[in-house]
Amino acid sequence: MPLVTSTEMFKKAYNGGYAIGAFNVNNMEIVQAITEACKEEHAPVILQVSKGARAYANHTYLVKLVEAAVIECPEIPIVLHLDHGPDFETCKACIDGGFTSVMIDASSKPFDENIEITKKVVEYAHAHGVVVEAELGTLAGIEDEVKVAHGAESYTHPEEVEEFVSRTGCDSLAIAIGTSHGAYKFTAAQCTRNEEGILVPPPLRFDVLKEVEKRLPGFPIVLHGSSSVPQEYVKMINENGGAMPDAVGIPESQLREAARSSVCKINIDSDLRLAMTGTIRKFFNEHPDKFDPREYLKPARANIKELVRHKLVDVLGCNGKA
Ligand code: G3H
Ligand code: 13P
Ligand code: ZN
Repeated sequence: MPLVTSTEMFKKAYNGGYAIGAFNVNNMEIVQAITEACKEEHAPVILQVSKGARAYANHTYLVKLVEAAVIECPEIPIVLHLDHGPDFETCKACIDGGFTSVMIDASSKPFDENIEITKKVVEYAHAHGVVVEAELGTLAGIEDEVKVAHGAESYTHPEEVEEFVSRTGCDSLAIAIGTSHGAYKFTAAQCTRNEEGILVPPPLRFDVLKEVEKRLPGFPIVLHGSSSVPQEYVKMINENGGAMPDAVGIPESQLREAARSSVCKINIDSDLRLAMTGTIRKFFNEHPDKFDPREYLKPARANIKELVRHKLVDVLGCNGKA
């Protein structure tokens, strides 16, 4: 089947109590790893491209890689989505350039300005059969050039969501309930430590999510910054020349709980990067004489694939839903 929008996917996910995985893609190996796992697990998927990915790999290369995945995986629905679109022009370029979904992220702007920018994108996107994700509230961490310090993040105000959705006409809404971008989601001061000395983050604000859900029944909610930062890969990186002390993510049990609610899309990027980096570091440590990129990218791709499979089955619950 050709690329699809997320409309049907989200309806089924909302009613079925699961979420769709939205994974960031930057190169061929990552596209292959994600889509092979989704094909084998019969899972619908959202492949998303950030502004940084477009700058790194070039819009056309990324679209063509995703089109190749569509040909190789005809049995699963695939959405091509712009992640954190910074302005109307970037969204327009993606709408005109083959994407089926865009995010306009004006969450750092004041409420009325966020509405104004989002509405403009929605009007253009809908006229071209493309759906729009918007954001209310700010996450800590780094989103392209926007860096939000720990302590400067703000949870979504549930009392604003109905007005925001009705005035903008957006198709899904990303909210801030305590997730955070990157591999260092929380400072040590925000966490406690378990017996092994690993940081335990503060729980997600399910009370905020429930309030949003009450005000927007049936409406798809999105969670960004939802990597769990697998300690297995942090350890692999640190044991093979890396230095990532106190990297910490969102516990998968909480993401599983979110996936059963109105959360229909869960964004995961950092975990894939950790799997790739850990695997390549280990490979070079064990094989200092090797220099063929295929030899180290192959195990990296295989480990990303297994990690994605784990997310589909144990976190998102979207296996078998294609
Ligand atoms: O939330 C951002 C995504 O992880 C994409 O990251 O801007 O480094 O491509 P990027
Ligand atoms: P992570 O950094 O937690 O993987 O979040 C990715 C994300 O939200 C992409 O938009
Ligand atoms: Zn994000």
